[in-house]
Order: sequence, then structure tokens, then C-alpha cells
Amino acid sequence: MAEFPPHFLRADDLDAEQLTDLLDLADRLQAARGSTGPEAHGDALAGRTVALVFEKPSTRTRVSFEVAVAELGGHPLPLSSAELQLGRGETIADTAAVLSRFVHAIVIRTFGQERIDELAANATAPVVNALTDLEHPCQALADLQTLRAARGGQLAGSVLAYVGDGNNVAHSLLLAGALAGVEVRVAHPAGYAPDAAIVARAEALAAASGTEVAVTTDAVAAVGGAHAVYTDVWASMGQEAEAEARLEVFEPYRVTPELFSHAAADAVFLHCLPAHRGEEVDAEVIDGPASRVFDQAENRLHAQKALLVRLLGDR
Ligand code: CP
Ligand code: NVA
Repeated sequence: MAEFPPHFLRADDLDAEQLTDLLDLADRLQAARGSTGPEAHGDALAGRTVALVFEKPSTRTRVSFEVAVAELGGHPLPLSSAELQLGRGETIADTAAVLSRFVHAIVIRTFGQERIDELAANATAPVVNALTDLEHPCQALADLQTLRAARGGQLAGSVLAYVGDGNNVAHSLLLAGALAGVEVRVAHPAGYAPDAAIVARAEALAAASGTEVAVTTDAVAAVGGAHAVYTDVWASMGQEAEAEARLEVFEPYRVTPELFSHAAADAVFLHCLPAHRGEEVDAEVIDGPASRVFDQAENRLHAQKALLVRLLGDR
């Protein structure tokens, strides 16, 4: 297998083999949780500290990383930008250099992708993307772990329909899904398409893994026969001012029981959470029997443990 990348900033920083290995390890860590044997990797981060820097709110990412580091024997150090000098204008480059003298990895949730790129360029410690405006790659790891379990252990040949905003979550799903041989279809309102460069990259990865990518404004066509239907909020963090205007534009893209009925008979419903019932998804769907959203949330823990073991375990 190729050497593990120094940072995890974009879903396609991994190659297909590394992605499969991470998902396999995530499954083994899930099965081993609570055990004291070597399979739990309980000392993988012994003596190491991981900074968890949040410039936006978080429930799942913050808690799953904190628990992951602790269960791997390391010390998690959660920090909000408001309590760092970063919040008072200290540069990202200086923050990266200084944190690298203290900690063994930096997990960060921030705004523009250029902020995390600059952090990684100036850090000697590995940097992990815990969500930017462009990508949410750790979410995609948990999403694929969840989908693979729902598909009986096989991702290649699966069809995932993402309905809604062409946002960070859609971008990382496009890239990670394409790497893994999943046909990712994105249905979005006009004007809210995913980033063209990410779609092009996903198309190239899909061609290599033997699948395809589809981007459309037709939600019913995207969902038709899909094995998973996925949605996310219509207004992401930082887009609060647009939230009201988006309600009207996105209305036809709500995952209703009727839209979901076009999916395969055994399709699952996925959502990264937090959810807004009655906006992007109806309660009957997210709280119904096909929903796997809480498994998906739990898998953040297992998938990120796998990531930390590979990123730090042998270094
Ligand atoms: N899905 C996700 O990243 O949730 P949080 O914003 O709560 O971390
Ligand atoms: N697209 C959402 C995901 C939240 C986990 C946002 O960026 O706010």
C-alpha cells in the first residue's frame, strides 16, 4: 500500500486501497470497542496530544474526535478559535508552527479550504479536516462505513443519491464514493450545483474505479433505484443570512416519503446531521425504518479512530 498521506485535508488525499483499509480498520475497531486486547489499539496514541480546533459549532465531530483520541490512549485538547489568539488575528501560519511544537496532530474545523491548506503548509504535525466550506472528508469515511454495512459489506456497484445543496458534504461524498466504486448522483436546485472542479475530479476517480458520477436538477431521476438517499441542511454554517431565501428554492428537494419511494426497496436514508425535520427531510423518513442516521453518527468515532491510527499510529 502507498505511504499514508501526511495530512487528511480532502477525501481524495487517500487512494482507493487506503480508503478500503481505513473502512476495514473502522469495522474492526467498532467490533473491538471496550476490549483491552491489541485489536482495540488502546495505546496507539499513548503519550500523544491531538489539538481539536473549532472555528464553527460541532456536536458529533467534536465529541467523536475527543472520545476517539481518549480511547486510543492519547490526550485530546479541544480549543475554540475564540479562546486562541487565532480569534484575535494571530496568523494561521504562526498558529500552525506553534501548535506543532506542542501537539502531535491538529484537527480543525474552519471556513475556507485555503485556511486549512495554509495550516497544513506551516505545520509539522499532521492536519485533519474536521469540515471546511469545501469538504467534510471525515464525514464521508463514516458515510461509506455505514453504506458498506447496509450493502452487506460491498460498496462497489452501490448507488448513492444525494439530494440538496452541492456543499461540503456533497463534495466529500462525490470524491470518496467515486474512489470506492459507488455511483454518486447529486440532485440540486439550479444555482446550487457542486463545485465543477470537484465533480471533474470525481468523474476521473469514478472512471478509474469503474463507476460514474451524475449531477442533475432532477431529484426523482437521481433517487430512482438508489441504494441510499442522502441529504444535508439547506443552509450550511456560515450561510445563515441565506437560510430564508433557500427555503423556497430547495422546497422541491425535500426528501419526502414520496421521493424516497423511488429508491430501491431496501434503500437506506442517510444524513450527516444536524437535521431540520420538515425542511430537507420529512420526519417519516429520518425517523422511519430505513433511516441509519444514528449508526452513521456513531461511525464517525470508528472511522476517525482508524484515520488517527493510520495517520499517527506508526509515526
Ligand atoms: N455531522 C457533523 O459534522 O456534525 P457536527 O457539526 O455536530 O460535528
Ligand atoms: N453542510 C453542513 C454540514 C454540517 C455537519 C455545514 O457545513 O454546516
